Amino acid sequence: MPPGDLRSWLDLLRREGELVEVEAEVDPHLEVTEIVDRTVKAGGPALLFTNPKGSDRPLLVNQFGTERRMALGFGVERLDDLGARVADVLELQPPQGLVEKVKGLGKLKKLADSMPKTVSRGACQELVLEPNLDLLPIQHCWPGDPAPFITLPAVITRDPRTGGRNVGMYRLQKIDARTTFMHWQIHKDGAADWRGMGDRLEVAVALGCDPITTYSASAPLPKHIDEFMLAGFFKGSPVELVKGKTVDLEVPASAEIVLEGYIEKGELGTEGPFGDHTGYYSPAEPFPVFHLTAMTMRRDAIYPSIVVGIPPQEDAWLGKATERIFLPAVRMTVPEIVDYDLPVAGAFHNCVIVSVRKAYPGHARKVMHAIWGLGMLSLSKAVVVVDDFVDVHDYEQVFFHVGANVDPKRDVVLSEGPLDQLDHAAAGYCIGGKIGIDATHKTEAEGGRTWPERIEMSTEIRALVDRRWSEYGIDREAAGNGRISKDLRRKLRL
Ligand SMILES: Cc1cc2nc3c(=O)[nH]c(=O)nc-3n(C[C@H](O)[C@H](O)[C@H](O)COP(=O)(O)O)c2cc1C
Repeated sequence: MPPGDLRSWLDLLRREGELVEVEAEVDPHLEVTEIVDRTVKAGGPALLFTNPKGSDRPLLVNQFGTERRMALGFGVERLDDLGARVADVLELQPPQGLVEKVKGLGKLKKLADSMPKTVSRGACQELVLEPNLDLLPIQHCWPGDPAPFITLPAVITRDPRTGGRNVGMYRLQKIDARTTFMHWQIHKDGAADWRGMGDRLEVAVALGCDPITTYSASAPLPKHIDEFMLAGFFKGSPVELVKGKTVDLEVPASAEIVLEGYIEKGELGTEGPFGDHTGYYSPAEPFPVFHLTAMTMRRDAIYPSIVVGIPPQEDAWLGKATERIFLPAVRMTVPEIVDYDLPVAGAFHNCVIVSVRKAYPGHARKVMHAIWGLGMLSLSKAVVVVDDFVDVHDYEQVFFHVGANVDPKRDVVLSEGPLDQLDHAAAGYCIGGKIGIDATHKTEAEGGRTWPERIEMSTEIRALVDRRWSEYGIDREAAGNGRISKDLRRKLRL
């Protein structure tokens, strides 16, 4: 079972040798960022700062900073297992025969068990306090940031029109001990709730949930699907919620800290700049003001944070989890897609590499346009389409096919559409150019001349060399001399 709350998550990380407790006094003003930046880029452990300067609360960072930890948080071996679980449900067919019926019922029960459950008491309300953000070791991340930012929140709202819940991860810039800005970008569901609000919109912010619930706040689900349901599905048990003390919203019962409050219609302030996941400061812009009405917490609450900046950072693995989880849903809509990869260095929205089973002329272009019309993938700036046999996660292979198969005049599509609000290179605000590169093999109908055959060794010879490999002594020699990298060994299938 995946960890049920932040405490059991920390226990698991400790047991797995994935957590270091830093007892030295460390300043959440810039110093923590520099430590975390170095640690993340070295593939290092989660860090629990037990003595952050200016606060009695420990500060947890880098809990998701490697693929292994991200998978551990979900209780799986590999992130691909998450997609497989989603596919299992999405591909549910009418059962034929008893065994299939029983299996089908099991799957439906799993779905029914995913619904969040309201309980009467929660550890997150052991203390009910007057709002006071000064109690928390909120990180001031980068020198150009104007203030400390809460960076790993689960922001809970209800759509005033439908009553449907939304949970999103939107940073909060501290204004003072009782107010913050709410940075929900224009394309996000929280912003849609805000646009539809009456005079006031109630908001609750959960900090320090179990890893799956924290992740779910960052999941780009369609507006009408509750992120807590997704969390329950992966946890294998419902997310337990308690009623807020001063707002008519439910919050995760086992969270470490909860901020409750509201946003007033029309009240905006200048948020940012903020050292962002694009690797640049996102500019100061108007965003709504969040007024706190209560702050509830566990008696010995732990404050969670994340640093974003020049990639790769910890958020890379939250993004990779999303990539794997949403592959089956993407395939449901565009079944010819075999796999896709959103490079971390492309800050996710800048580039999508997609492999397709091509069946007709112009197929690659159809897929580009499908991606530009699909949920948050619609904000993708570049789409590279390759054939089904290309490994989209192997960037050398992709680059090879782009070089080998593209006539730039014929195979590059320039288009225009909505872009990420943080994209500073876009010609317009949230709108700009898009590029599609068709790196698939071309048929005659697509203007290809006779397409040459790919070079491939015969299966018999491959099998022979596999069998005899150790006899050649190359592995021993090369590895012994340190001349063969791990990556090359993998490619050579050593
Ligand atoms: C660490 C982290 C910080 C994020 N910060 C923001 C943010 O400040 N504003 C925003 O609009 N999206 C932010 N995102 C992306 C959203 O959480 C993501 O798009 C999510 O799907 C939004 O939820 P929604 O689909 O319910 O709107 C962040 C994601 C991560 C992983």
